[in-house]
Amino acid sequence: MDLESIASAIRICKLCSLHKNRNNTVPGSGNSRSEVMLIGEAPGANEDKQGLPFVGEAGKFLDALLGTIGLKREDVFITNAVKCRPLNNRDPIEKEVQICTRAYLLDQIKLIQPKLIVTLGRHAMKIFFPQIRAISDVRGKAYKKGQQVYLILFHPAVALYQQRMKTVLQDDFKKIPTILKQIDLLKESK
Ligand code: URA
Repeated sequence: MDLESIASAIRICKLCSLHKNRNNTVPGSGNSRSEVMLIGEAPGANEDKQGLPFVGEAGKFLDALLGTIGLKREDVFITNAVKCRPLNNRDPIEKEVQICTRAYLLDQIKLIQPKLIVTLGRHAMKIFFPQIRAISDVRGKAYKKGQQVYLILFHPAVALYQQRMKTVLQDDFKKIPTILKQIDLLKESK
């Protein structure tokens, strides 16, 4: 199995009803050997049109955030909790996220083996930490679950119209290089 075969399976997926209204699936894009994997919520209209994740306004801000820590989108792997656009940009329902995660996201993670998974927004967080209620309680700190390290962040879209949230996300993003270094140190000390 490789990332392209997962993407091919996603392109013909009919496991949930989201396939009925999509123009394109959005399997994910970026570096298959990346240390960092970012997981958003769901494709929006622009993503559905282009078949690529985070290509709209929130995506532009995400690119800027990556830029502040010297990364380009080709350096990371970006995907979403669900790979098809929910109609009218409604939130994905739990069942849709569950189906898509079990069918595709877990395999993507297994293949990429990222040092760090960054969840963007509530839906991606809930996949790994269903018991956590509010992002504000946990954001910006690294969490280890099993062998995997996670960083829980707000979704970049919430920062588009709120300067305060923009600053929060910028500050949290700046922690990524330090967290990656800490993960290396932990591994070396074993
Ligand atoms: N918001 C997301 O969560 N994902 C995208 O791909 C675009 C916007």
